Amino acid sequence: MTESLRVLIAGNWKMNGLRASLPEFEAMLAGAAALAARVDLLVCPPATLVAAMAEKARGSRIAIGAQDCHVQVSGAHTGDISAEMLVDAGAGFIIVGHSERRADHGESDARVRQKAQAVWRAGARAIVCVGETQAQRDAGQTLDILRAQLSLSLPDESSADNLVVAYEPVWAIGTGLTPTPKDVEQIHGFIRDLVVARWPAEGKRMRILYGGSVKPSNAAELMAVANVNGALVGGASLKAADFLGICAACAWQSGFAQVLMFCVSALWRLGAGVSQGWRGGYGVGNPRIDRVTPRHLRQDR
Ligand code: 13P
Repeated sequence: MTESLRVLIAGNWKMNGLRASLPEFEAMLAGAAALAARVDLLVCPPATLVAAMAEKARGSRIAIGAQDCHVQVSGAHTGDISAEMLVDAGAGFIIVGHSERRADHGESDARVRQKAQAVWRAGARAIVCVGETQAQRDAGQTLDILRAQLSLSLPDESSADNLVVAYEPVWAIGTGLTPTPKDVEQIHGFIRDLVVARWPAEGKRMRILYGGSVKPSNAAELMAVANVNGALVGGASLKAADFLGICAACAWQSGFAQVLMFCVSALWRLGAGVSQGWRGGYGVGNPRIDRVTPRHLRQDR
């Protein structure tokens, strides 16, 4: 039987938001209460708002996260913020390795890996971002880049409970462009293969988010793709109506997928497949498991 992972919709506010944004967040909290419980919700505001939003979100459907952290617990690092400080302020997740930090601050894969370990040391979960640039995509290097980023950025101690992977093609961030569902399926299948190869049991349960120009209008289609276990949303997470629209589309999609999987599974069991079952499958109700082969591990397609 394939495993159905809980969908995670995470908003990344980036360097946006003042205390004046709190009413917008309160509107998100109010709207989120009505959403289906099968979707996990997270908002990662700038560090200046983590404590205030965590306070408002206490006991609600929305968890609060942060966008980056220093690798050390404390010390002479002017202007930096440690994972422990963010957790103390109320963050339960911390994004590391976002392409904007890799580009703006020259963060290497090794540094991203250290940051993920710092997140765990502080008791939070890490969302590790990977993704290719337009130039790398044009040069046909997408899978090589992702393979290297994942292999070097993800610590050996990664598990389904402490890690979320976010695939964010750099060329899709803030541009209104998105990969086709077929491209997303191929790349998320590739990422799934890599994490399963490295962590055979945990890799099947690790959530892999898609990020890059996710909107209410395209969220359901993207979430329907195999091995897409949620979204990391930038611009559209700043407005309650847009963020809730994405969450609602994903909640509907994941509910539909669960019903579909139940029906397919029931039919399968009734039919000739009874003796074989769904052994060996993985991912989020991926009925096209036969298309994901070790070939993905070795070569670009
Ligand atoms: P947009 O949704 O604005 O394209 O940003 C995606 C992103 O970078 C989330 O981390």
